[in-house]
Amino acid sequence: LDNGLARTPPMGWNDWNAFGCNVTEQLVEQTADYLVSSGLKDDGYTYVNIDDCWMSASRDANGNLVPDPAKFPDGISGVAAYVHSKGLKLGIYESAGTATCAGYPGSLNHEQQDADSFAAWGVDYLKYDNCNNQGVPYQQRYDAMRDALAATGRPIVFSMCEWGDDSVWTWGAATGNLWRTTGDINASFSSMLSNFHTNVGLAQYAGPGAWNDPDMLEVGNGMSFTEDRSEFSLWAEMAAPLISGTDLRSASAATLSLYGDKDVIAVDQDSLGKQGTEISSSGGLDVLTKPLSNGDVAVTLFNENSSAATISTTASAAGLPAAASYTLDNLWSHTKATTSGAVSATVPAHGTVMYRISAGSATTTGTTHPLIGASSNR
Ligand code: GLA
Repeated sequence: LDNGLARTPPMGWNDWNAFGCNVTEQLVEQTADYLVSSGLKDDGYTYVNIDDCWMSASRDANGNLVPDPAKFPDGISGVAAYVHSKGLKLGIYESAGTATCAGYPGSLNHEQQDADSFAAWGVDYLKYDNCNNQGVPYQQRYDAMRDALAATGRPIVFSMCEWGDDSVWTWGAATGNLWRTTGDINASFSSMLSNFHTNVGLAQYAGPGAWNDPDMLEVGNGMSFTEDRSEFSLWAEMAAPLISGTDLRSASAATLSLYGDKDVIAVDQDSLGKQGTEISSSGGLDVLTKPLSNGDVAVTLFNENSSAATISTTASAAGLPAAASYTLDNLWSHTKATTSGAVSATVPAHGTVMYRISAGSATTTGTTHPLIGASSNR
């Protein structure tokens, strides 16, 4: 959506996957505090997003949505003020239906009134779900909220949660800043893999302001460390939103090391805004490449299988220009190597190896290299 927002994929946190309906003001504010104290805010995690179940069961006498006073004693405006005071942004949830998925009042036919409430409260991001939609066509329902948000005059990221229905990617860029391409993820390798498979073929529809969303990061919620690292790598490679769905306040050091990997985040957030694509996929061994703004590429080698395997490609296949040598920067081990073009690694079961590859050898990175001529100015 060309509203000036989400020029790179949104980053932040959402309570749903770890807490379900147990969202509270305290949880949201403690998470905001933690994003600041942990350094994750400085890494780019900006949006603190409230999911379903924040409301009272009914609208008030004037038809306005009412925050549950037990869960949000200071209202959404109070939480927004707190989150803003930390330099962060606040997200909220609603549904393009007569009720949310958990049964709270929905926004269908109340779009402007509800958008006005969100804007008045200081909301910066809306996740807009699809439950109880009464069969009203998708674009009609989502365009109505897009227009209502625009009419408020407040910049609000519009996240469409229509589960990949209605081939949303074919029309989503005109309506929202991101759209779900899949059903709900859960913290299992098979669920993550399924969402990856659906999302990876949709690269042509993504770009600045308009992202494919394979759902939230389950990193820290129960997969193995190797599987968590695969999700984080693949989501970054696919320029997906990096929205953590775990309880960050109690996350392990290992989990935080994944969320905080600046090199992998930089791949996701690269200003070119290209979603990585598969250049080969055979027998559960996948090679993806993502062009980056400085001419480098990010290559992810992903092993879907339950035993280790060698996965190979070349710098040329990954889209780099001809050069005498290339630097392979391993983004998880933080080691560099030089190659004449072969790109290969032993990848553990369910694991991922991720490289940033640049033309030129490691010792000359960042300087002029006589052998690579015009492409050496980086
Ligand atoms: C749907 C969405 C989820 C979550 C729940 C809340 O299932 O896809 O991401 O928002 O609703 O009820």
